[in-house]
Amino acid sequence: MDKIIFPIVRDEFSEPDSARRKLLTAMGWGSLAIVGVTGAVSTLKFMFPRVLFEPPAYFKIGPAGQFVPTEQADSHGVSMVLLQWKKSNRTWIVLEPDKMYAIFAKCTHLGCTPSWYENDRTYKCPCHGSEFYSNGFNFSGPAPRPMDRFKISLGDDGQIVVDTSTLFTVKDFDNPNAFVALSRIV
Ligand code: FES
Repeated sequence: MDKIIFPIVRDEFSEPDSARRKLLTAMGWGSLAIVGVTGAVSTLKFMFPRVLFEPPAYFKIGPAGQFVPTEQADSHGVSMVLLQWKKSNRTWIVLEPDKMYAIFAKCTHLGCTPSWYENDRTYKCPCHGSEFYSNGFNFSGPAPRPMDRFKISLGDDGQIVVDTSTLFTVKDFDNPNAFVALSRIV
């Protein structure tokens, strides 16, 4: 009698294939999840961009009438150096008998922040020793020029406004936007 040979038929759902299918399905869902999370993160970054919070370019320092020099001018023509805006806005407000201006408290050597020494009537830079007179002009150390000045003006509301987005170097200190004449406000 002939021997009956049964063909070997692979069960489509045999154990090894089923496991592989599950693995592939899981990988597919995993990839989709990664794509989804990446997209969500990108969207959030777009909606909440990294922003540097800096002080606003304009700031008001008070009603013009309060800026009256009450002290005698020193040998560089400066009556008073007001320090209130040094920390918040890196600015000294300087009063002379006939005008006021805003010095940017940044050393013109490499940009450190000098300090005002009332007894010496001098700004001194802690980094490499530059010194400046009360009007901001350099006289010692490596600083190559006087400290710059911000635009300053009398606003429509009677307030003095400093604009830190506009700087004047020494050649433009006579520009009408680089100071406010006290005759305009008293
Ligand atoms: S940064 Fe002021 S002296 Fe160098």
